[in-house]
Order: sequence, then C-alpha cells, then structure tokens
Amino acid sequence: MCLFGREVIPAVNQVETNPMNQQIKAEEVMNKYGVHIEAWAPFGEGKNGMFTNETLVNIGKKYGKSAAQVILRWLIQRGVIIACKSTHIERMKENFDVFDFELSKEDMEEIRKLDSSDSLFFNHQDPDMVEWFDKMVKQRRENTDYRKEKKNW
Ligand SMILES: NC(=O)c1ccc[n+]([C@@H]2O[C@H](COP(=O)([O-])OP(=O)(O)OC[C@H]3O[C@@H](n4cnc5c(N)ncnc54)[C@H](OP(=O)(O)O)[C@@H]3O)[C@@H](O)[C@H]2O)c1
Repeated sequence: MCLFGREVIPAVNQVETNPMNQQIKAEEVMNKYGVHIEAWAPFGEGKNGMFTNETLVNIGKKYGKSAAQVILRWLIQRGVIIACKSTHIERMKENFDVFDFELSKEDMEEIRKLDSSDSLFFNHQDPDMVEWFDKMVKQRRENTDYRKEKKNW
C-alpha cells in the first residue's frame, strides 16, 4: 500500500486525544490506512477541569473509580493506545488499576458528548501558532546538533 507517495505507512500516530478532544474523525482516517491511534495528553494535562468533570466523576462513582481511571478505561475500550504521565507513585498505581471494570454503552455515549473536537493546547489552524511551532522545532534541532558537535570535540 502507498500513502501520499510513501511506501512505508506509520504503524502508530500519536495525537492529542482525551474526552474534550476525542479525534473521532482522525481515528476513522487512520483506521482506513491501518495506522493505530495513540493518545498523548490523555488527561489533557488536567486542563478544563478534566479530573473534576461531572460526567466523568459520576460515571466513576458507579464503579468506585476516579475520573482519571474512567478516561483511561474509555480509551482502552475505544482501542486507543495510551501515553499518560504521572510523577506520583500512587497515581501511577491508580492509572494501572483499570482492568477490573467495564464502561457500559451508555457511559461511552455520555463521554462522547464531552467532545469539542478542539485542542486543549493550541489551534493547529492558526498561522502564528504554526510559525511558532516551526521555529521551536528548528531551534530544538539546532540545539541537538550543537550538543552532538560538542560531544565530538
Ligand atoms: N503534552 C504534550 O505536548 C505532549 C506531546 C507529545 C507527547 N507527550 C507525551 O504524552 C505523555 C503524557 O502527556 P502529558 O504529560 O502532557 O499529559 P497527561 O498525561 O494528559 O497529563 C499529565 C498530568 O496529569 C496528572 N495526573 C496523572 N495521573 C493522574 C491521576 N490519576 N489523577 C490526577 N492527576 C493525574 C499528572 O500530574 P502528576 O504528575 O502531578 O501526577 C500530570 O499533571 C507524556 O509522556 C508526554 O511525554 C506530550
């Protein structure tokens, strides 16, 4: 198979995916080309009251789970690979403890309603933001090259 002239199709595409930005359409396109979706910022880094969201908290109460655990379970049941992060050991344990319950079809539909289809971080259509991002990547690349040069001295 060939995608946009490329022979090798990415196996995984890591994109911001969380209850407020669910990437439903993007996932459909990825599925079409056999690319697996992976969520970065699955908690949206807690933005927009993610951990206290009423829908997520109320669903969690039914199973004795936190909003964070509901989010992870929702992603797992969608088949989304997860890259979440915590610096706290108790939260890491909590985040692994999501394999002993299952969200109902109704729960999944309730969470579906939280989607704004918009990034919690930045607008990918804003030219200023795209220019900023491009500069940031170039700067990082230059810094990396500089460090490599330094190592060879
Ligand atoms: N954000 C980006 O721009 C980006 C881009 C590409 C890749 N990634 C990768 O994606 C991974 C996760 O992304 P992320 O760190 O940006 O966001 P995230 O996983 O959505 O959120 C991390 C935040 O959630 C908190 N948290 C984790 N578990 C929790 C829980 N059970 N209860 C309450 N709070 C909890 C963490 O706090 P504590 O640490 O204080 O527990 C941290 O502030 C990282 O490995 C990152 O490298 C991120």
